[in-house]
Amino acid sequence: MKGIILGGGRGTRLRPLTHTGPKQLIPVANRPVIEYAVEDLREAGVTDIAVVLGNKGREEIQDHLGDGSDLGVDITYVVQGNPLGIAHAVGCCREFVGEDDCVVYLGDNVLKQGIERLVESFEAGAHVAGIALQHVDNPGRFGVADVDEVGRVRALVEKPEDPPSDLALVGVYVFSTDVFDAIDAIEPSWRDELEITDAIQWLLENRGTIDSHVVEGWWKDTGKPEDILDANRLLLEDVDPGVAGTVEDGAEVSGRVDLQEGARIEAGAVVRGPASIASDTVIEAGTYVGPYTSIGPDSRLVGAHIENSVVVGESTIATGERFVDSLLGRGATVESAEGRLPDGNRLVIGENSQLEL
Ligand code: DAU
Repeated sequence: MKGIILGGGRGTRLRPLTHTGPKQLIPVANRPVIEYAVEDLREAGVTDIAVVLGNKGREEIQDHLGDGSDLGVDITYVVQGNPLGIAHAVGCCREFVGEDDCVVYLGDNVLKQGIERLVESFEAGAHVAGIALQHVDNPGRFGVADVDEVGRVRALVEKPEDPPSDLALVGVYVFSTDVFDAIDAIEPSWRDELEITDAIQWLLENRGTIDSHVVEGWWKDTGKPEDILDANRLLLEDVDPGVAGTVEDGAEVSGRVDLQEGARIEAGAVVRGPASIASDTVIEAGTYVGPYTSIGPDSRLVGAHIENSVVVGESTIATGERFVDSLLGRGATVESAEGRLPDGNRLVIGENSQLEL
């Protein structure tokens, strides 16, 4: 079984965070989201993995994952270029896959329970593909499955206006080599992409049965800012506490806090877990870091109150303001304008930024 992780796409719904880098490297609980996919594949015994790259952030992804050895896998890079669709991206891996079966993992998806069950169930049967489903409130945002009373897949449709059910397709799929015939046969959709959902529908009509099961643990497609915050919250629920950093006397730390190497919580600061503070970040006196917050590396917090938020890293937050449900991109600075006249907020905000004051 080979693995394919999709690292291309545009990431338009995550601008401005994705203006400079790929969405698959946005950290949740202080780990780039793509690493969770690598880990899930490795845990399911899939270590020969192709990472598909788009035009954006190619080098960053390669620099970050390297040859995969740090994560216990062997990575081959395949360049897709323009995002012509998920099925197109899979089609670019035809040579890499050869005569094997493959698991395709969308690089912006995170699943609590991993993918072992999906892979084992596919391998145990005689199916042409295996899919994972989850009941959702907003099926129109996803691929949607129509299943019969005993759970057999009848049809699949991508982002339907009138969804046949509330069962969304999770972004992890298992395929036999038949998928490449399907990719050759389908036509681009209304959004001008070769849809993986259409490829699976073709397999269903032309080749055989699709194995499916409903995923029990949580699943997140981190396509939008609120999804990143949700995924961060869910991952921090299970964060391993660790104090590789320093907690000074007079600092108040409670709950599970992952304090990484070189990080420091100074006297007079308060940190309430679950939270993650990455390497070389300093939480200074008068700062409050509340539950479900991840602060990336090389940052400095002076007097701010922040909770349920993600700070990507290399940030300075030096203000007494209170931040909730916030997402701060790399290198973001928020400072107090006290003493400056005329009174008011002074903003230098990138394209497509979002402020709720
Ligand atoms: O998250 C699950 C959903 O993912 C499924 O329910 C849908 O059926 C499936 O089409 C997909 O929908 P999205 O609209 O969320 O896909 P998105 O364009 O965000 O792309 C998913 C990942 O694949 C992302 O990591 C970027 C990458 N990608 C995407 C395209 C279109 C590529 O590498 N190349 C591409 O051409």
